[in-house]
Formats: sequence, C-alpha cells, structure tokens
Amino acid sequence: MNLGFIGTGNIVSDVIIGISKSKIKYKKIIISPRNKKKALYLKKNLKNIIIAKDNQEVVNKADLVFLGILPKVGEVILPKLQFRNKQIIVSFMSTTKYLKLKKLIKTKSIIIRAIPMPPIRLGKGPVAIFPPNKKIKSFFDKIGTTIEIKNEKLSKNFWTISGTMASFYELLNILSKWLIRKKTNSLDSQKYVTLLYSALAELALTNSSKPLKNLVDEQTPGGLNWQGVNELRKSGYYRLLEKSLKKIYKRL
Ligand SMILES: NC(=O)c1ccc[n+]([C@@H]2O[C@H](COP(=O)([O-])OP(=O)(O)OC[C@H]3O[C@@H](n4cnc5c(N)ncnc54)[C@H](OP(=O)(O)O)[C@@H]3O)[C@@H](O)[C@H]2O)c1
Repeated sequence: MNLGFIGTGNIVSDVIIGISKSKIKYKKIIISPRNKKKALYLKKNLKNIIIAKDNQEVVNKADLVFLGILPKVGEVILPKLQFRNKQIIVSFMSTTKYLKLKKLIKTKSIIIRAIPMPPIRLGKGPVAIFPPNKKIKSFFDKIGTTIEIKNEKLSKNFWTISGTMASFYELLNILSKWLIRKKTNSLDSQKYVTLLYSALAELALTNSSKPLKNLVDEQTPGGLNWQGVNELRKSGYYRLLEKSLKKIYKRL
C-alpha cells in the first residue's frame, strides 16, 4: 500500500513521523512538494519517502490519500485533481464539511474526515473520524486511538475541543514563565510544569471510568488547589472558556 499526502505542513509531518515509528505496513509515502523545507526534512530523515512533482502525482501513486491543506487551499486545488473511484481520501481539513468535500472531489471516492493531533507523532492521542470506516479505524489505531463518529454534527463537537490545544499550551507557557520570573532556570521550570501536567492528565485517564468532577471535588477545603479553582471560577475564567468553545463551534 502506498500512502499519499497533499500539503506537507505541520500536521502531515506529525502523522508521517507517527507512521514511520508504527506497525503500519506501507511501501512508499508520497508527499507533495509544498512545503519544500518540510518535505525535504521528511525525505532526509525517514525511509521510503518520495517527493512528488505535483499534487496529481500524489493522487496517482497513492492508494490512500490524505489531505493536509488548509480549507481555502482545498477549495481551489481539489476540483482540479483526478481521483479514482473507490480511492480512499482522508481529509484533515477542519472547516470543510463532508458534502462540500464530495462536491469538490467529484469522483465516487470514499471520503473520511479525521482529526489527528500533534501527539500522533508519538503514536498517542485520539483520532476522531467521520463517517466510521473499518480500514481507517484500524490505520489510526496503530498511531493513536480512533474514535468513530456516526454523525457529522457530532464530529463538530470534537473539532471544537481540538481547538483548545493552543490554549492548553499557553497555560503551560504562562506557568513556566511565572517560575522563571521567580528565579528558577528555564529548563527546570519547563520540566516541572510539563512533567506535572502530563502526569495529571495520565492520572485523569486512569480514572476515566469515574467523572472528572471527582478529581476537582476531592481537593481539601481551604487548601491551595481549592483556593486556585474557586478563585478562577469566581473570576469567570471557566465561563470564558465555554464562551470560546461556542465561538470555535460556530466556525465549524
Ligand atoms: N495542526 C494541527 O494540529 C491540525 C490538527 C487537525 C487538523 N488540522 C488541519 O490540517 C490542515 C493543515 O493544517 P496544518 O496546521 O498542518 O497547516 P500548515 O502547517 O500550514 O500546512 C498546510 C500545508 O499546505 C501546503 N500547501 C499550500 N498550498 C498548497 C497547494 N496548492 N498544494 C499542496 N500543498 C499546499 C503548505 O505549503 P506552503 O508552506 O508552501 O504554503 C503547507 O505545507 C488544516 O486544514 C487544518 O485544519 C490541523
């Protein structure tokens, strides 16, 4: 099986690095020449990568085609590409809906929308897909955990949550910068914050049969964590977060 990628940007690089470390069986990975720097990096550092001369060559040589372009680019380039009937196309494009993709692609290809996230390069994290598809589920299960979604409206909710990644990283950044301002060196600051939050997320994951609320409520009344969460609640921090989710959802 040959895998083809149109748009060699951030998320495609993460997915390809994840694939290269996984048990996914493939012959070649064919990537489009843009972005040139990222394409050359992947070719230099990983095995069996071919940089195609253009997007059509990616489509021609691949059994599975992944779309890692921005929605506005997809609208321009997809109608010009000749896909094959029954060829499987997996779109990572956030705001381009299933029916729109069908119109842009024209042939009777099998279209799946997927939400890979950067930790896929570590072979970790959820990948929500719509509509459900056995082959694609099994593919992403080798570089993460696939969540099949039966209806596109529901998949919008998952896209919304995926849009909180940067605000999570900004939280880590602010905490780490605070420690640096308090005279801890930057390496130790970053190490403390990232180790703490990855361990907290791991603990939450092991507790996933119980409500997350339990982890919030088990704080000692009057303790530091109790103070922290209540102060942020009172200030409207979490209401703002929900407001932001609503706005992200509206764009999808
Ligand atoms: N980043 C994420 O975590 C993430 C997660 C899930 C889904 N997505 C979705 O994945 C898509 C890509 O996101 P991204 O963050 O990876 O963006 P990105 O880094 O900007 O990647 C987009 C890539 O498309 C290339 N491109 C532009 N015009 C092209 C054309 N005509 N033909 C082929 N390639 C072309 C760009 O090359 P140049 O640099 O040369 O312009 C760039 O390498 C988006 O639709 C996004 O919604 C992203």
